[in-house]
Amino acid sequence: MTRSFVVLGGTGDLTGRLLLPGLAELVDAGILDDGVRLLALSREDWSDEEYRSWARDRLAEHAAHVPEPARERLVGRFGHRHGDVTVAADLRAGLERAGGTPVVYLALPNTVFLPTLEALTEVGLPEGAVVAVEKPFGRDLADAQRLNAVLHRLVPEEQVFRTDHFLAMQTVLNILGLRFANRMFEPVWNAQHVERVDIVFDETLGLEGRAGYYDTAGALRDMLQNHLLQMLAVVAMEPPAALDARSLAARKADVLRAVRSPEDMRRDTVRARYTAGRVGGRELPDYTAEDGVQADRGTETYAEYTVTIENWRWAGVPFRLRSGKALGADRHEIALRFRPVPHLAFQPDEESPATEPDVLRLRLDPDGIDLDLNLNGAGDPFDLERRSLQVELPPARLSAYGLLLAELLAGEAALSISDVEAEESWRIVEPILAAWAAGEVPLQEYPAGSDGPAR
Ligand code: BG6
Repeated sequence: MTRSFVVLGGTGDLTGRLLLPGLAELVDAGILDDGVRLLALSREDWSDEEYRSWARDRLAEHAAHVPEPARERLVGRFGHRHGDVTVAADLRAGLERAGGTPVVYLALPNTVFLPTLEALTEVGLPEGAVVAVEKPFGRDLADAQRLNAVLHRLVPEEQVFRTDHFLAMQTVLNILGLRFANRMFEPVWNAQHVERVDIVFDETLGLEGRAGYYDTAGALRDMLQNHLLQMLAVVAMEPPAALDARSLAARKADVLRAVRSPEDMRRDTVRARYTAGRVGGRELPDYTAEDGVQADRGTETYAEYTVTIENWRWAGVPFRLRSGKALGADRHEIALRFRPVPHLAFQPDEESPATEPDVLRLRLDPDGIDLDLNLNGAGDPFDLERRSLQVELPPARLSAYGLLLAELLAGEAALSISDVEAEESWRIVEPILAAWAAGEVPLQEYPAGSDGPAR
C-alpha cells in the first residue's frame, strides 16, 4: 500500500510550528518511508516551489535541532495544491494528486472541522485511509457528537486519530512504564494510600499572538478539557491487558466516565486572567490589551478544577487540574501526595519538624521523576530529613509531534483519543463552562509573572 500524507491547512501555524518539524525528525531518524507522498493543501495560490520556500523558512525557525540535509530532503518531497478545504472538488483534486492511501490531517481551526469532514464524505476516502483531527475536538458535547457522527460515516473508528500530543510526551508515556512494569507502585496507587493528585501545567508563555484562536477558547477548553483530562485518565486507569489502541482507550474511557463534575463550582473551580506584569525579564501587557482580544468575552487564561473519580480505586481522592498562561514559572507535573503513616514514632522537635507525606512527582520538560521521602537525618539518626530520589530522563529521541506522526503513518492509534473519550471529556467540562458563562464563578485576575490568582 502506498501511503500519502495530506495536510489540510498546509500553510497554517500548526503545520509550520509542529507538523513540519515532526516530519523532519522522522526523515532524520530514517523512519519516514521514501514511498510516502506528501501534499499540503491551502488557500494560498502557491506553486510547489513557493510552498517549499515557506516550509524551508518554518523549519529553519522551528526545527533547528534537525540537521539541514534532513530538512531539505523533507521540503523537496512536499507538493502544494491551492484549494478550499470545505469544497469537495478541491479536496478530490488534492487527494488525486497525492494518490495512494491517505492520512488526511486536519491542521485547521476547529470551526472548519465539520464542513471539511462533510466535504470529505462527499468525496469519499479509499479503504485504509486515516483521518487525523486536531484539538480542541469541537466546542462542546453536541459539537463533538456531530463531529463523531460525520467521522464514522467517513472511516471506521479505528482509522480516526484525534490528536492530543500530550499522550506522546515521554513522561506521560512513562506513567505506563512506572505503574505497570514495576511491582511496587500499583499496590499503593489507590485511595487507601493516595491523599490527593495535582496535575499542573503552568506556563510562562503568554498569548504569543494566538488571540484568534485562544480568545474564543480559553484555558479550560485549550488545556483542561483535553490534555489534562487525558493525563488524569492515564494516571487513574486500571491496568490494561495490552498497550494497543483499543485496550488503552477502553481503560481511559472508564476513568472519564467515572469523573464527576465539581458539585460546588465556587469551591471547586477557579477562573482568572492575567494583567500586565513581568515574566522572566519580559514585560507582558494586560491580557485584554493583547492584539485581537475582546475583553468582554471574559476569556480565562487560567483554569483550575478539582474533580473526584467515583470508582472503587479513587473514591474520595481529589484530583486538582490546573493550567494557566503568563505565570511566574514553568511547572509541568503530576504529583501524587501520599497519606501520612498511621503512626510516627519520631517526635517532632525543632531539629526535625513534623514530616510531610511522601510525594511522587512526574515532571514534564525537563522530564524526570522525583520521589520525596522522609529519611533518617545525617547527623542524628533519630531525626528525620526530607530527601528526594531523582531520575532525570534524557530528552526524548522524537518530539511529541514526531512520535505522534510516526504512529499515525504506521497506522497505529494508541496515542489517539477515542470517540467515547472525546465526548466524555466534554460531558465533564460542560457544567463548568455553563456555570462560568452564567457568572456563578467570578473571573479573578493575577499579574503576569505571579503564581496565579489568590484562592
Ligand atoms: C497546546 C495549547 O495544545 O499545548 C497551548 O494549545 C499550549 O496553549 C501547548 O501552550 C503546551 O504544549 P507544549 O508541547 O507546547 O508544551
